[in-house]
Amino acid sequence: MDKQILKITDSVEWIGVLDKEITTFDIVMETKYGTTYNSYFINAEKKTIVETVKEKFWDVYEEKLRKLCDPSEIEYIIVNHTEPDHAGGLRKLLKIAPNAKILGSTSALRFLKDQIGEEFPQQAVRGGDIIDLGNKTIEVISAPNLHWPDSIYTYLKEDKVLFTCDSFGAHFCHDDMYINKVGNYDDAYQYYFDVILKPFSKFFLQAIERIRPLEIEAICTGHGPLITEGCQEIIDKTEKLCQEYIAQYPVKNRILIAYVSAYGFTKTIAEKIAEGAAEVQGVEIDLCDIEKMDIGTLADKIDKASAYLLGSPTINQNMLPQLYQVFAHMTPIRDKDKLAGCFGSYGWSGEAEKQLIGNIENLKLNYWGNSLFLKFRPQEKDFERIKTYGKNFALIVSGC
Ligand code: FEO
Repeated sequence: MDKQILKITDSVEWIGVLDKEITTFDIVMETKYGTTYNSYFINAEKKTIVETVKEKFWDVYEEKLRKLCDPSEIEYIIVNHTEPDHAGGLRKLLKIAPNAKILGSTSALRFLKDQIGEEFPQQAVRGGDIIDLGNKTIEVISAPNLHWPDSIYTYLKEDKVLFTCDSFGAHFCHDDMYINKVGNYDDAYQYYFDVILKPFSKFFLQAIERIRPLEIEAICTGHGPLITEGCQEIIDKTEKLCQEYIAQYPVKNRILIAYVSAYGFTKTIAEKIAEGAAEVQGVEIDLCDIEKMDIGTLADKIDKASAYLLGSPTINQNMLPQLYQVFAHMTPIRDKDKLAGCFGSYGWSGEAEKQLIGNIENLKLNYWGNSLFLKFRPQEKDFERIKTYGKNFALIVSGC
C-alpha cells in the first residue's frame, strides 16, 4: 500500500490513495487503469481537508493524515461531492477530528446526513461564499450536477488551486501521480468524461464559464493525476468536448431499439418493430442486440438516441440484466421526456413488462403508454401488428 504524500504547493498536500486493483467502478464502469481517491490537506491557520477517500482505504489514509497534523486541529472538511468514493472516509474522520466542521452544498449536507447516520457539525455553502482559513481564503464556486446535484468547486485563492472532485478527473492510477510524470492518459480522461460527465455537459460549460476568470496553477481532482501544469489546456479541451456533445446529442428523431433475446423470439419482435419504424420518413433507427455490448458503446447509443424501445424476455420472473445496465446509464437530467416503449417475449408470467415500464417511468422518460409483449415465439400472423407498433412509435417521434 502506498504511503506517499505529495506536495501541490507549500500549503497543499495530496494525501489520497491509489486503488490499483479496481476493475469496475460503481459496478458499471470499467477501470482498466485502476483509480485514485484524491484527498488534500491545506496547512492554513485553520487546517482544512478537501474530500476524503473510500472507506476501505481508511487505515492508510489516516496514517498519511497523522503525518501532517494532529487531526483534532482540523477545523474544516470541505466536501465538493458526496459520492462515497470521496465521502466514505468522513464517518471515521469525524471521530478523530472532533473539532472539524463539514462544509458542502445544501444537497451535499442532506446526502451526508444519511451516509454518516448521526448529527455532525456542518455549514452549508454556496457559489460566491468565502471561507476564511485565517491566513488563506477559499472561494466557493457553484457547479451543480457534475455529476450529482451536490457538486461544488472550491478555489484556494492565495495558492491558485482549484478543487473540482470528479470534474476534470479520470480513473487512472499511476505511482507518480503528477501529470507531467504519468505519461499520456488521454484515453482514460476521454472515457471518464464520456461515461460520467458528458451527459451533464450543459452544467459543465456553466461551471467552466465561472472558473474562467480565475488564475489556476493546479486543478486538484477527486480521481487521477494531479494537474499541476497545463490547467488551461485541460479546461479548453474539456470545454470543447462539452460543446461537441451538446451540438451532436441527442440526434433528432433517432430511435434506439435495444434488446436482448434468449431464444431469438425477442430478437424477431425487435426486427419487425424496426421494419415498421423504418417505413416512417425522417427517422433513424439504431437496432442493436446489447447482450455483449461494452459499456462505453452502450452509453453512447443511449446518449445519442432521442427515443427508446427496449426489449427483454422474462427469465426467472425478471427482465435480463443488460436492461438494468441500460437504465443505469440513463439520467432524468438528460433523458427526461424522451419517448419510450418496451417489448419482449415471455413464457408464462411476463414480469419484464412491468419492470421495464416501472424503470421508464421512474427515470421520467415519456412512456408511450403502449407495450408489446407476446407469448413465446412471434408467429407470422403477429408480424403486421408488431410492425404497426414500430411504425406508430416512429410516427410520434417524427412528429407526424
Ligand atoms: Fe468519484 Fe461521483 O464520485
